[in-house]
Amino acid sequence: MAEAEGLAMEIDAPLFPPKPDYKDKGKAIAAAAAPPPEARSAPWVEKYRPQSLADVAAHRDIVDTIDRLTNENRLPHLLLYGPPGTGKTSTILAVARKLYGAQYHNMILELNASDDRGIDVVRHQIQDFASTRSFDAKYSVKLVLLDEADAMTKDAQFALRRVIEKYTRSTRFTLICNHVNKIIPALQSRCTRFRFAPLDATHITERLQYVIKAEGIDVSESGLAAVVRLGSGDMRKALNILQV
Ligand SMILES: Nc1ncnc2c1ncn2[C@@H]1O[C@H](COP(=O)(O)OP(=O)(O)OP(=O)(O)O)[C@@H](O)[C@H]1O
Ligand SMILES: [Mg+2]
Repeated sequence: MAEAEGLAMEIDAPLFPPKPDYKDKGKAIAAAAAPPPEARSAPWVEKYRPQSLADVAAHRDIVDTIDRLTNENRLPHLLLYGPPGTGKTSTILAVARKLYGAQYHNMILELNASDDRGIDVVRHQIQDFASTRSFDAKYSVKLVLLDEADAMTKDAQFALRRVIEKYTRSTRFTLICNHVNKIIPALQSRCTRFRFAPLDATHITERLQYVIKAEGIDVSESGLAAVVRLGSGDMRKALNILQV
């Protein structure tokens, strides 16, 4: 009998089935890479997305560990998980910026749940990306970002496991999700896992104060406290509430 994952390889299951309630939460990679000239009217969640690892609020232990591994040229496959708006995407984008600088766009491939494509398409995309020689030999590995990885079917996850293995020499994968229990153990064991907990009130308050100062707006202490409370550990939510 064929083993389960061998079988899964034959199935062209959608890697990311469309989620009916999927909304762009302001995560566009282009917006993250360089603040557009019209940044003044840009959503604050993008305008104030951490550009470097030092800008990432809280999660010092995680950020320092990833930073050290990056510096030592030992970046593993990563699995970043935790509730929305806690800095998972921001952290890995900051890593990419640090690793690749201006070559950022050539060295990172971002795939996410809005890509309603079969595993074969994704496999080819990853293959094309991984097999193109990098512009500069000093960049040893490229980065594939799989956002909303928990939206992947089990079949697609099994297929991905092979893809990761095949390209491990030239490519590092980062899986990002909210619900780690939806990621199959076989994938989990190939990644170094980091849990992004909800941000505490102190860190959210500090970041909001920074934005309030930068924007030159007037917010009362009780108003700020209310925004922090409503944000309930989600920095994106807090920033969005502050902006309206
Ligand atoms: N730790 C943080 N430090 C500073 N800003 C943050 C942090 N976490 C989130 N933010 C703010 O919230 C926005 C969204 O963060 P990010 O995209 O990193 O969240 P996420 O954890 O990937 O969420 P999701 O699970 O919804 O994808 C960022 O652009 C930034 O403005
Ligand atoms: Mg994200």
